Amino acid sequence: MHIKDSFTYIEKPDGEKSMHAEEVPLALLANKIGTPLYVYSSLGLTERFNALKKVLPAALICFSIKSNSNISVIRTLSSLGSGADVVSGGELHRALHAGIEAKKIVFSGVGKTDEEMAAALNANIKQINVESVPELELLNKVALACNSVAPVAIRVNPDVDANTHNKISTGRKEDKFGVPYKEAIYLYSKIKKLEGLESVGIATHIGSQLMTLEPFSEAFRKLSSLANNLKNSGHNIQSIDFGGGLGVNYTGNAALNVSDYAKIVKTAADDSGCQIIIEPGRFISAPAGVLITRVLYIKRTEAKIFAIVDSAMNDFIRPSLYDAWHQVDPIYYHQKSSPLQTVDIVGPICESGDFIAKERDLPPLTTGDLLCIRDAGAYGASMSSTYNSRAPAGEVMVSGKEWDIIKIRQTIEELISQENFARWQK
Ligand code: LLP
Repeated sequence: MHIKDSFTYIEKPDGEKSMHAEEVPLALLANKIGTPLYVYSSLGLTERFNALKKVLPAALICFSIKSNSNISVIRTLSSLGSGADVVSGGELHRALHAGIEAKKIVFSGVGKTDEEMAAALNANIKQINVESVPELELLNKVALACNSVAPVAIRVNPDVDANTHNKISTGRKEDKFGVPYKEAIYLYSKIKKLEGLESVGIATHIGSQLMTLEPFSEAFRKLSSLANNLKNSGHNIQSIDFGGGLGVNYTGNAALNVSDYAKIVKTAADDSGCQIIIEPGRFISAPAGVLITRVLYIKRTEAKIFAIVDSAMNDFIRPSLYDAWHQVDPIYYHQKSSPLQTVDIVGPICESGDFIAKERDLPPLTTGDLLCIRDAGAYGASMSSTYNSRAPAGEVMVSGKEWDIIKIRQTIEELISQENFARWQK
């Protein structure tokens, strides 16, 4: 299935091309609002959500809020009928605030606090994915105190290697996530005995940025056979939550086929007679966003040419943290420009690990040039920090010819407003 790119060059009569988000020139946004700046395409989000809906029409698609938690992004998806996968009280708040129906929200994560559990129960969300015995016991206590019965799915660790980056692999037995496959039945029997709990389904999530289907296939088969065993032993299993993890094509190589993924999901669900839940994050949001940055300086050393830009690892940490490769394109591009030069694109932060891209062949760059870092809509803004006392990039949503600021970049006064001198220093 081909999903159109929402960030494309439009050529002017003089042969110069300028990158647009839908119908809005990225340079216009950079000049009006300033850089660094995240730009999201409403159409991109919509088309990617709908591509999944098309292949899994009966599934509950719970957008993984951690991939992009801007309330405008969430609202774009909630208006299409999306649910949400949340992993904290903060994400739960955002999802509800942006209009996601409580009955479409699943709460995942290994370390929920009692306050977060109470918030989820009071909101009446669809299910809480539990990952350990002590968590199950605390949830029972909290539910009884809230006069409610918690809808539980046990997150099972199927011990399957997702063949992805070590830091984002979650389904092997040495990972901290989920309950070992063999212990899951014990947890369901515990749910039956505890009055504050009822079982509603079963869940897994084996990792992120999967580029092959085999690990999904193995994990989902294991999960559906466990669901059948549980049902046969009298447990209430109405749904299987298959988690997220669908990889995207950062490098231009073949991407994972969504229809084939859907087939695997459907087969596993049909075998168990369960409703399907999926928790995609990156697949929906990554290609629907870019980060625009401006070149501050060109620095030539004996070894390299560095383009020092105004975005850094505090805005976008994926290259530093995972050695992630993101395509970087000039926002203006002229066919007749001089031969390409190999440059490292680096940020102003005082660490050698602060880079955006290494050894890229680009037209010669100069101070003031604008660059577009692609596929930055997932785990970009949501992982930003204020390291080096830098306010994270602002954010803009585009729809057709329209655009609006959906996150204002903070000022330094706002950044320090939560801090104060100790009593004896005033
Ligand atoms: N469900 C659960 C329980 C998860 O932990 C995650 C991601 C997802 C769904 C969504 O996975 P996705 O469809 O986006 O692959 N910061 C890393 C990715 C961390 C993923 C954590 N969990 C990165 O930038 O690559």
